[in-house]
Amino acid sequence: MITCSAPGKVILFGEHAVVYGQPALAVPVTQVHADVRIEEIFDSGVWIHAPNIELHARLDSLASSHPLAATVNNTIFTLGVSYLSGISILIRSTIPVASGLGSGAAVSVALIRALAKYVGKPLTDEQVSALAFETEKLYHGMPSGIDNTVVTYARPVYFIKGRPPETFQVGQPFTIVIGDTGVAASTKETVSDVRRLWQENPERFETYFEAIGSIVKIARKAIEAGMPDSLGPLMDENHALLRRMSVSSPDLERLVAAARAAGALGAKLSGGGRGGNMIALTRPEITEAVVGSLKEAGARQVIHTQVGV
Ligand code: PMV
Repeated sequence: MITCSAPGKVILFGEHAVVYGQPALAVPVTQVHADVRIEEIFDSGVWIHAPNIELHARLDSLASSHPLAATVNNTIFTLGVSYLSGISILIRSTIPVASGLGSGAAVSVALIRALAKYVGKPLTDEQVSALAFETEKLYHGMPSGIDNTVVTYARPVYFIKGRPPETFQVGQPFTIVIGDTGVAASTKETVSDVRRLWQENPERFETYFEAIGSIVKIARKAIEAGMPDSLGPLMDENHALLRRMSVSSPDLERLVAAARAAGALGAKLSGGGRGGNMIALTRPEITEAVVGSLKEAGARQVIHTQVGV
C-alpha cells in the first residue's frame, strides 16, 4: 500500500495581480491536507474513490478531461508507464473545495507523488509541479501556477508567473488565522471578471496590479527581516486594492471587519475572492479573540497556522 499527502495553501499577498506578471507570496497550510492511498485489488481495472465528491468510478469510464483522470493519465505518461491495472486509488481531503486553500492542487500533487511511488520511479519537484499545473488548467482556465508551486514545495514561496519559484526564509514565525466564508467561489470566474475589467480600463487596473506588486516586495522583505507585525497594514492595503478590483464580497467584508475589530494586525481576502477564505495576522495573545470573533461573524471554519515554524 502506498500513501502520499499534500498540504493546503494560502496566498498571503498578490492574488490576481500575479496573473499579470506581478509577484505573489504564498505559504503551505499543513492543518488541512489531501491524502491519497493506492492499493492493489483483485480487479483488472483502475478504480478511483473520492468520497468527498462522491466519486466511485473506473478510470476508463471517466472523460479524459476529468481532472482526476487527466492527472492519472498525464502522470503515467510522464513516468513512461503504458498502463496501470488492478489498483484502487482512494483520494480524501480535509481542504474545503473552491475556497482558495488549494484543494485541487493538493489532490493533484498527492496523487502524482503516490503514482510515482507506486511504479517506483521518483519525480522531481519540478516535474510534480508541472504535472499539477496541467490539471490546474482544467480547474481554472489560465492559472498563474502559484497553487501547484507552493503545494509541491510545501515551503513559503515568492512566485512570479513563468519563472522558477523562489523559496525564502522567515525571520520570525508569525500566526495567520484563516476564516472560511463557507461560500464556494469559482476562481475561473473571478479571474475572467478581473480580465474583463482590466480590458475595459487598463490604466486603472494596471495601477492596482503594480501597487499590489510593490506590497508583495515590501512584505517579503519584512518577513525575511523578522518584522511580521508590519505585514498587518500591508494586508489591509492589499485587501483595499482587491476590493476595488471587485473580488471581495459582503461575507468577506464581514469577516475581515470582525478580525480587525478583535485586534488583528491586518486582514484580507485570500485567493480568488467573492467567497472562500480570508486571512488575518495575529499575535499569540490575540489569536483566540480573533478566532472567536470570526466564528461569531459567521465563519464556517476557522483555523490558525504558524508561518515559518
Ligand atoms: O482561489 P485560489 O486560491 O486558487 O487562488 C487563485 C489565485 C489567483 O491569483 C486569483 C489566480 C491565479 O491563478 O493565480
